[in-house]
Amino acid sequence: MMEMKKPTLITSWYEIRAEAVQARKQNLKVGLVPTMGALHEGHLSLVRTARDYCDVTIATIFVNPTQFGPHEDLNKYPRTLDDDLARLGALEVDFAYAPSKEELYPEGFSTFVEPPSVAKRFEGECRPGHFRGVTTIVLKLLNIIPAHIAFFGQKDYQQCRVIQSMAQDLNVPTLIQLCPTVRDPDGLALSSRNQYLSTAERTQALSISKSLDDAEGEVSRGQTDMRRIVDRMRNTLEAAGIEKIDYVDIADAQTLEPVAQLQNDAVALIAAHVGITRLIDNRILSHR
Ligand code: PAF
Repeated sequence: MMEMKKPTLITSWYEIRAEAVQARKQNLKVGLVPTMGALHEGHLSLVRTARDYCDVTIATIFVNPTQFGPHEDLNKYPRTLDDDLARLGALEVDFAYAPSKEELYPEGFSTFVEPPSVAKRFEGECRPGHFRGVTTIVLKLLNIIPAHIAFFGQKDYQQCRVIQSMAQDLNVPTLIQLCPTVRDPDGLALSSRNQYLSTAERTQALSISKSLDDAEGEVSRGQTDMRRIVDRMRNTLEAAGIEKIDYVDIADAQTLEPVAQLQNDAVALIAAHVGITRLIDNRILSHR
């Protein structure tokens, strides 16, 4: 049987930093894919893009405790390091950085990044403290690993905008690259949390991508009144039996501020609970 090459597993921050610095000295382009593990096709597509654009690819695997609220699923979050390493190996990732909690948050750790204004609404309101944890860990990773490009999935659109905005405000020289959401053939956006859905819940969950398809369709047919589109999206979710909707809205794609009429690119955003599983998804609504 052919031996699958696994990425070099590194757990200490100064060792992974040394590898990245060394690669840069050799004029190699370094790509970073930050993840919390439990890797699925969505993550792997980020890795493939990183491999296409960069000479050295580093994936990080760290379930970041500071971005989970006290009642969220930190302890339940799937941890599948061996499988993750095998998947990264199959894509010939060079390094996997999988630090311990103590490595990144040693005793006495007390400095956090105040998230930018795009963090205020949506996930920022539903998950207080979440983006403070995200900006803190991502800035730490970008400081540890001086990558040329860091790759993030558009499924977490607000997270992408938060990280781009932070990187710009704090003069982080790494390019923050958004990559398209990967979906199952039925349209459901891939997420580590999809594994918790029963068959009936999965059918309900499809109304999320369907309402985003409808929103895009309405815009392409010339509808500019965003309230009407949001009402229709909400109806689609409710008709499918989704009772707990955290938000369904359309916002400016850059600032995530409210938009009533489509004048610039906008983004339709949904967060809804299907059974006990909270799902998010979004769609860019292009203004042409
Ligand atoms: O999107 C994620 O998986 C996480 O929020 C990230 C960016 C790896 C930070 O922990």
